[in-house]
Amino acid sequence: MLLTINGRPHDVHVEPFESLASTLRERLQMLGTKVGCDRGECGTCTVLLDDVPVYSCLVLTRSCEGRRIRTIEGVATANELHPVQRAFVTHDAVQCGYCTPGQVMSAIALLEQHALPSDDEIRRSMSGNLCRCGCYPKIHAAVKSVAAAAVEANDDR
Ligand code: FES
Ligand code: FES
Repeated sequence: MLLTINGRPHDVHVEPFESLASTLRERLQMLGTKVGCDRGECGTCTVLLDDVPVYSCLVLTRSCEGRRIRTIEGVATANELHPVQRAFVTHDAVQCGYCTPGQVMSAIALLEQHALPSDDEIRRSMSGNLCRCGCYPKIHAAVKSVAAAAVEANDDR
């Protein structure tokens, strides 16, 4: 079957009950997407499907044909981190880093839909991504800073 991941086509053989997380990691060696619980509880495996964050451990790859899959590998350019990634670094929102790819994907989805989310909206949108290192305040601050920077840049125009 043909999957479109980060704008590129991938022709891949997939078993009927294979999860998208398994396909990404085991068949395509896209190891940026992490797997924690493997049962829809932690958000570590979050990717975007048609711009909506999903737990890739719960999504059947066979259901993804013709849809737009975005993973952490497609977020930065060759020379530059995505603003959300930069903000995570600036705000020291990474400890072990295992949850970070999923956190970044959820934050990107939120900020693409709401340029200036409220604190509650940030909390709600990021609530499906657990961080066992407890970086929540720093993750929140990082997401908020990207929104604020985007508004500032708009005001300067
Ligand atoms: S690994 Fe998918 S939700 Fe935990
Ligand atoms: S930084 Fe370690 S789990 Fe979040």
